[in-house]
Amino acid sequence: MNRTEFIATLAGLPVLSAAARQARRATDELAGSMVTDESYWERIRRDFYLDEQWLDFRAFASSPVPKVTMNRLTDDYRSIQQLPSLRGYQPAAGNQDTVRAQIAQELNCLPEEIALMRSTTDALNNALMGFPFQKGDEVLASVHEYDSMLGSLYQRQLRDGIVVTQVEVPYQPATPEQIVECFKRRVSPKTRMLLISHIVWISGQIYPIQELCQWASARGIVTVIDAAQSFSHLPIDVRQIDCDYLGAALHKWCAGPLGTGFLYVKRTHIAQTYPLAGHYAYAADSDRIEKFENFGALAPVFPAASVSLTYWRTMGLATKRERMQFLKEYGMEALQRIPQVKIVTNQSPEHSCGIGFFTVQGHRASQIKEQLLKQDGIVVQAIENYRNRNVNYRGVNAVGIATPVFILPVHLDQLATSLRALLKA
Ligand SMILES: Cc1ncc(COP(=O)(O)O)c(C=O)c1O
Repeated sequence: MNRTEFIATLAGLPVLSAAARQARRATDELAGSMVTDESYWERIRRDFYLDEQWLDFRAFASSPVPKVTMNRLTDDYRSIQQLPSLRGYQPAAGNQDTVRAQIAQELNCLPEEIALMRSTTDALNNALMGFPFQKGDEVLASVHEYDSMLGSLYQRQLRDGIVVTQVEVPYQPATPEQIVECFKRRVSPKTRMLLISHIVWISGQIYPIQELCQWASARGIVTVIDAAQSFSHLPIDVRQIDCDYLGAALHKWCAGPLGTGFLYVKRTHIAQTYPLAGHYAYAADSDRIEKFENFGALAPVFPAASVSLTYWRTMGLATKRERMQFLKEYGMEALQRIPQVKIVTNQSPEHSCGIGFFTVQGHRASQIKEQLLKQDGIVVQAIENYRNRNVNYRGVNAVGIATPVFILPVHLDQLATSLRALLKA
């Protein structure tokens, strides 16, 4: 067994037992020693299909896939499109249970609690639109939640008379406790649900979901976690966190094909949650997780998603996480040597991992984004006074980058050089 396999084996142990916790500590130590082994990471980069004419720092929207995943995807497509009338309606036949079990293993839950979905949006809509609210029930969500999830809640407000309260949480919280305090201050006897992002998409800030969920659960408040940015990025143990619903895509940090995701529903909540689409085999109040999975015709994406899950399992999440943290810190350090740049994401591992945001004095984030793209084919995220009918991220004017493991330090140097040239700094 080589070192990588050894690390993966350790990372694969169940996380609740004392032995497993000890193993995880050992894994973390070993992972630390691999973090700067550039020849290893260069090999990892070659595992991915990437368009080398571009430098993509926006993989938190959707990620390129490993070659092994792409090969599986194209093989499946070829086979299905040769006989779509028979093969097209069983997109994951034989593999559905495998993928479900793999995701359950990552989350420390039962496969019977995992519904396969096409995206985070799809997943969380099943939870938010399907939850049996009573008129007057209140949902608390931070002002930095993803806009479409708030859109679903506003639809429930219109249709069912619930109350949606957006909680002011600082864009740059000083401590995780400060975040928890913001929710504690706004809770009311009517509060029925908390919607929380594990990692906030416009800042990279990690929210202390375990503290929030345990606090909520002690008051009978249901918790919905938006793990779009945290699945396959940070460890997630739903039993330990004690959340009720958790949804994520597999096409972001997990580098699965576009159009893959999942919804975790705590077993006791399955029967009472209505699926978005009626199912031909299961009643809406069934306690079977499959009732959420009526997709109609679907591209053959889940077997390939399974390949991506295996790819990361082999590397080990501890290794992956440590490397992303290292890359983010490396990038932020390079950028902050530019006089006009100010880092806005707190760098410490309890605040952020593979996402970093920064501002450029005297410049709009959208300008920086456009110019980096035009000048050097560099793709970044820009959040600039982003506002629509669901959210108002007022005052946020920041550029963001994601640092997945196929990014190398040399690319972060290139980003800093390009920005310097653009600013003539
Ligand atoms: C926090 C958050 N939630 C939800 C989504 C939507 O993700 P999906 O494309 O999987 O629907 C995103 C997309 O970036 C996100 O950042």
